[in-house]
Amino acid sequence: MIHPSRKRLAHAITTTLAVGGLALTAALPAQAAPATPAAHTAPPKAGNTSPAYNGLALTPPMGWNDWSYYQCNISEQLILDQAKALVSTGLAKKGYNTVTIDDCWMAKSRDRNGNLVGDSTKFPDGMAYVGSQLHKMGLKFGIYEDAGTETCGGYPGSWGHETADAKRFASWGVDYLKLDGCNVPSVQGQSDEETYRGEYQKMSQALLDSGRKIVFSESAPAYFQGTPDWYKILQWTPKYGNLWREGWDIALGQDNDKWSSIMANYGYNVPLGAYSGPGHWNDPDFLLAGDSGLTADETQSQVVLWAEMAAPLISSTDLTKLSPSALAILGNTDVIAVDQDPAGVQGHQVYSDATYDVLVKPLANGDKAVVFLNKSAKQQTFTIGSQELGYPAGAKLAAKDLISKTTTPFTSSVSATVPAHGTVMYRVHTTG
Ligand code: GLA
Repeated sequence: MIHPSRKRLAHAITTTLAVGGLALTAALPAQAAPATPAAHTAPPKAGNTSPAYNGLALTPPMGWNDWSYYQCNISEQLILDQAKALVSTGLAKKGYNTVTIDDCWMAKSRDRNGNLVGDSTKFPDGMAYVGSQLHKMGLKFGIYEDAGTETCGGYPGSWGHETADAKRFASWGVDYLKLDGCNVPSVQGQSDEETYRGEYQKMSQALLDSGRKIVFSESAPAYFQGTPDWYKILQWTPKYGNLWREGWDIALGQDNDKWSSIMANYGYNVPLGAYSGPGHWNDPDFLLAGDSGLTADETQSQVVLWAEMAAPLISSTDLTKLSPSALAILGNTDVIAVDQDPAGVQGHQVYSDATYDVLVKPLANGDKAVVFLNKSAKQQTFTIGSQELGYPAGAKLAAKDLISKTTTPFTSSVSATVPAHGTVMYRVHTTG
């Protein structure tokens, strides 16, 4: 039996999609931002330094996924056009190298041997062909499946087929699997958390045994957000996979209120630094740069915050129509370098109130990436003591603004003038 609460977590705003004449509901709706927490400072988080289970994703994965912009309206042509744009915009060279086909790529049922097959109308040349074309472009091939009996969109899930599906993906040249958590059945005598654990563990092992190195993205925690088992699940996701969606979906390309969705996902992701580290990353969902409904400052803020949190940088927009401003934001190599820093420490808040947050991310060479986020609707100047950033009193500092590229000296405090809903990201080093 499908546990009703896990069939679809459509408890808030739901998104209705037209798929083959049927209406379906996306599983993890975007959510309005929670109330702003009171002012506080948090101790630095050491992060998770245990080795990656498969030695992969030692820095946060980067790439593109169709879901937030296209949902089920996908095809071979569209995926390959987007892949070409990833290359021609120069984003692939900067690290955005994994193209992931999300839900709705499959035929509605398995073939007579129980194998997964692609929808032959959407993908007339088959999934292995798409993979080979991506590989020819120097890209990696990502694909979506689900741990339950059906995907969130109602296509065949991997429940009971883990080994065969992992082998199938390997035979298609898949490099990255996103395993969602819709429609996981209830098993008598097991808690939901145990059932999810068993299922994700099975796929984790099946991928290891598949004969191909496959990055594993686990959506399990997202199905327990707001329940006491959330943290329990976050204890095991780093053992079985490389990254995990732990909360609400980011707003879809068609949604209006994208800023509150970005703030909500930032809000649930930022305290989770203890689970994150090389080979295992918290994933607050897609980058919306390029979509309508965000100012340039808001677009910039999402990329900066995600980089500060060592989050996967996975764009989901129409890359063939990226504005120069969105392209510059996604392609800022100084910001990407913070995200991809080999120390792999997730930035943490050292200050937060209703108006602004300050975050610090220690970097491998001893520098610190410092972010000021202005949550208010008007430009303001913010200041933080350099000791709160972890520097000894009187340390002489130089702060390079990674957007404007200007460098400013500071001593006892660091400050920044930040536009409404904007961020300033500094790379700070000591000069004496
Ligand atoms: C869930 C996931 C989304 C997407 C859809 C596909 O909502 O969280 O990222 O994969 O399912 O149906």
